[in-house]
Amino acid sequence: MESSVRPKRRYTTEGVAGTHGSNQPLWGAPIRWFVRHTWEPYVDAPYRRITVERLKQLVEGAKEILDVGCGDGAIGAQLMEAHGGLKATGIEIVDSPGALIPTKQYDGKRIPFPDESFDLVMATDVLHHTPDIPAMLKEMARVSKRYVLVKDHTVYGFFSRAWISLIDFATNVPFGIHCEYNYPSLETWRRYMDEVGLAIEREELLDIGPGTRFHPIFLLVKKNACG
Ligand SMILES: C[S@@+](CC[C@H](N)C(=O)[O-])C[C@H]1O[C@@H](n2cnc3c(N)ncnc32)[C@H](O)[C@@H]1O
Repeated sequence: MESSVRPKRRYTTEGVAGTHGSNQPLWGAPIRWFVRHTWEPYVDAPYRRITVERLKQLVEGAKEILDVGCGDGAIGAQLMEAHGGLKATGIEIVDSPGALIPTKQYDGKRIPFPDESFDLVMATDVLHHTPDIPAMLKEMARVSKRYVLVKDHTVYGFFSRAWISLIDFATNVPFGIHCEYNYPSLETWRRYMDEVGLAIEREELLDIGPGTRFHPIFLLVKKNACG
């Protein structure tokens, strides 16, 4: 039977349409058209391929992962495909019918799982959408046995903030996703992580091409799980 839920937003380049962003504003229609026909195939697709390849390496060894803000679950699904035996679960603040991994909706604050439920808890391009990044990081650490993996954005000067904000706006707000326009510097990211008891095991900037030095990845380990 054909689903009555129309996919609204594709987060994947692999030809799997997901559903997301239920409050799409009418005024956003031309921007959505532009993003779908230019940004997604030519910029977002290569970016996502590079990101997922790196994430596949970084989650190696984990058996159960939680993908916070999983969107349509495409990343979790690709990680499971790459690693037989890996189980990915998602949580989202919006309803995600048709998500490619089992996904729970929640209030965006308290992660609906007990302490130390997952080997690794990840958030890809999510934390800068949340009003309180340290609180979210703390929750991620709580439900992880050991690892937290963050891919997000960072600023490196005034112009980068304006550029990232513009991209963030155009690729989210017309699709019904709220933006906070908060992109911590690398120093601030490190401080947040330290303050919530996470030690940096790996820190890198994804190399996606000229003018894109704003994609940090942090593989973090709970300080009380070190050793
Ligand atoms: C740019 S999308 C990224 C989706 C997915 N992680 C990916 O990389 O394809 C940001 C997502 O974060 C979700 N989000 C925003 N605030 C959140 C929160 N507090 N907890 C969980 N998800 C949240 C949004 O609904 C949206 O799906």
